[in-house]
Amino acid sequence: MKGIILAGGTGSRLAPLTLVTNKHLLPVGNKPMILHPVEKLKEAGIQKILIVTGTEHMGAIVGLLGSGKDYGCEFTYRVQDEAGGIAQALALAENFVGDAGCCVILGDNIFDDSIADEVADFEKQGAGARVMLKQVHDPQRYGVARLDGDRVVEILEKPADPPSDWAVTGIYFYDNAIFDIIRGLKPSARGEYEITDVNNAYIHNNTMSFGKFKSWWTDAGTFDSLHHANQLVRG
Ligand code: G1P
Repeated sequence: MKGIILAGGTGSRLAPLTLVTNKHLLPVGNKPMILHPVEKLKEAGIQKILIVTGTEHMGAIVGLLGSGKDYGCEFTYRVQDEAGGIAQALALAENFVGDAGCCVILGDNIFDDSIADEVADFEKQGAGARVMLKQVHDPQRYGVARLDGDRVVEILEKPADPPSDWAVTGIYFYDNAIFDIIRGLKPSARGEYEITDVNNAYIHNNTMSFGKFKSWWTDAGTFDSLHHANQLVRG
């Protein structure tokens, strides 16, 4: 399985911290944010990792990560020219993924659990997709899963009236059918190619499974959540 870390976006919710650097280079605990997902992939046995980022700070990202030899990984880089959503960024991974499956981590998602068992479960599943859920107090901020027993039947992106308190985190597993799905997407009302539309396509095909994080998870894209991520990581 290949790994993909999405580290683009303007980081506008963290301005002025992000005026001269990439959000994913800001400190979380004792290291730049992006090293947390790198370590999670490596811990799960995934060494071939694609980093997708924007043009503005690509140099700084490559300057930190290099070839990957210092981290026991092999990094590939692709540039997302403009911020057009998570699914648009993922489209850049088609050649990198090839016939394999992939584990995608949004670079500002910081979490405690190992994903090694999830990787194994997805490999057993063989095809389709798998998302990681976490129970949260503020589901309106996220993609939210509507559950029916052990099935996820729908995902709603930032719903005003959430059907559950299970947030869809930014840790996803896909087979390479994702690239055909992305080609069929239309931009959402906010003008982005939404990962939630991709996930709903897999749900529609009955090939979506899910796992649940047991320990803590947070994103780190706002001042409050970045502060929270630092508190959680420092324990
Ligand atoms: C994105 C996804 C959302 C998901 C979240 C996790 O939202 O669209 O479904 O719950 O990441 O961090 P964004 O943070 O880009 O608004």
